[in-house]
Amino acid sequence: MKNSLVSECNLIELSQVSNRAGNISIVEQYSSVPFSIERIYYLYDTPCSESRGGHAHKELSQLIVAASGSFNLTLDDGISSKSFFLNNPNQGLLVVPGIWRDLRDFSSGSICLVLASHKYDVSDYLRDYQEFLNYKK
Ligand code: TYD
Repeated sequence: MKNSLVSECNLIELSQVSNRAGNISIVEQYSSVPFSIERIYYLYDTPCSESRGGHAHKELSQLIVAASGSFNLTLDDGISSKSFFLNNPNQGLLVVPGIWRDLRDFSSGSICLVLASHKYDVSDYLRDYQEFLNYKK
């Protein structure tokens, strides 16, 4: 998705079931997210001084959830960028393909849950920012 834009990346409110025993947030493929979920992974024990991401994907769509704690996520389409502070386990940020992302300022004990549209594929990554800008042209 060479011509995708940050404006296509939205915060999605997840459906939630709450009672005195706590909360459940629910993600279902195609209804909560517009892709089939092929892979789930999560980042944890991330030192607050460390950043993650620093890449874009050519085909991968993702829903990124602060399942616990908080972090900052900046999205960049090569023309404009937007930062999100994720701290609500009932919201997911939909990241379409072709968007550079940086994650930083992880709070202690935070969990960054990622639902992804494809299995891990090293050839789907753009890890060099100049290469990313060339790809977006
Ligand atoms: P990377 O996607 O760069 O992580 P982040 O964006 O959170 O900084 O992946 C870091 C390393 O983990 C890299 O060597 C690839 C490997 N990895 C897998 O093998 N499978 C996976 O599903 C993921 C997400 C990463």
